[in-house]
Amino acid sequence: MEQLTGALILLLSCIGHAELWVVAVNRSHAFRIRAKSLRMFRALHDLAIVVFPWVLLVNCGLNDHGLLRGGTLFDQTEFWRNVIAVTLLGTIPFFVGVIRWQWLRRFEFHKVATREIYNVAEIARLKKLNDVRGSRWHPVVIWPWNEILTLEVNVKRIQTRNDQALSRRPLRLIHFSDLHFIDCPGSDFYRFMVEKATELNGDAMIFTGDLIDKPELLATAVEILKPLTKIAPCFFILGNHDWRYNYEHFRTTLSASGWKCVTGSHERIMLAERQVLFAGSELPWIGNPPPAVKHAGVDVRILLSHSPDQLRFAQAHGYDLMLSGHTHGGQVVLPIIGPVYAPSIYGVDLAAGLFERRGIAVHVSRGVGAKDPLRWNCRPELTCLEVYC
Ligand SMILES: [Fe+2]
Repeated sequence: MEQLTGALILLLSCIGHAELWVVAVNRSHAFRIRAKSLRMFRALHDLAIVVFPWVLLVNCGLNDHGLLRGGTLFDQTEFWRNVIAVTLLGTIPFFVGVIRWQWLRRFEFHKVATREIYNVAEIARLKKLNDVRGSRWHPVVIWPWNEILTLEVNVKRIQTRNDQALSRRPLRLIHFSDLHFIDCPGSDFYRFMVEKATELNGDAMIFTGDLIDKPELLATAVEILKPLTKIAPCFFILGNHDWRYNYEHFRTTLSASGWKCVTGSHERIMLAERQVLFAGSELPWIGNPPPAVKHAGVDVRILLSHSPDQLRFAQAHGYDLMLSGHTHGGQVVLPIIGPVYAPSIYGVDLAAGLFERRGIAVHVSRGVGAKDPLRWNCRPELTCLEVYC
């Protein structure tokens, strides 16, 4: 019995230790920190999570009076007692997160009116398209359950303040995020996404940042996105991955194709018989927040923010809807546990989905691409938001 209790303490200690690192990594990626520093911190996190269980085992498990040999916590040195106490505290956010995922978040992640799933790799094979996979090789693309070459097209419904809005035709916003052009997926995958976006018959197209991870692909990206400007007004902001490169060049090139950048500014436009205000924020990485919203005559105020961490700003400035990306839904969503990694001060709380947060609707897209092309239980997403306002 003592050995069993000891094994449980060691296991919980390892879980709590890993969770503390995950919490730190998620929050560190929410700030304006250079990619090199973040990479080093992530490497430290990888090393710590792998090494800690073995060090713990040697020092508190298999030693004389170790927890696996009938010893108790009080038989361990003061240093290791403190380490175990701190790491056991780390199990609290872990279990809170699991319970939240199981009992609350599953409803928020599934507020979907209709859902269509496309195996783009298979469609490409039938259509004899040759650049769906892309030419970049990455070890994770051979992962057999990798969903990076699928596309989920969702229609989600939002009702803002106006109770009479349900009798009117909704405003249809086509939202996609985090394209991450890096040659995996390839250009035909993105062309397929644009084809589906076109079919959704939207009143406006919205892209919420992370356009490019390989600057040589800028011309391809713009050529693929340009046809959407013939369908509906197109609005965009950039993201933290764009910030790593010559992002102003990305901005001017995409703007020249007909897309309208709204970062740090407002754009009022009549859509579906409504005055709609779009504003954008690329904080904390680029520029300034948009100026205070002018309420007069506007039916719905929409903030495009790459990171969902601008939620408090959106609430404080009277926006009705915030559209975000950045967190990729966690990219890997584990059974029972749910998403683990999401670069946000909220951790995985706003990893993806449609949320209501104190008077504001928030849609966080899972995104389309990824720098590391691995997705599991977390398909690339294109969304039509039907906004009743
Ligand atoms: Fe991203």
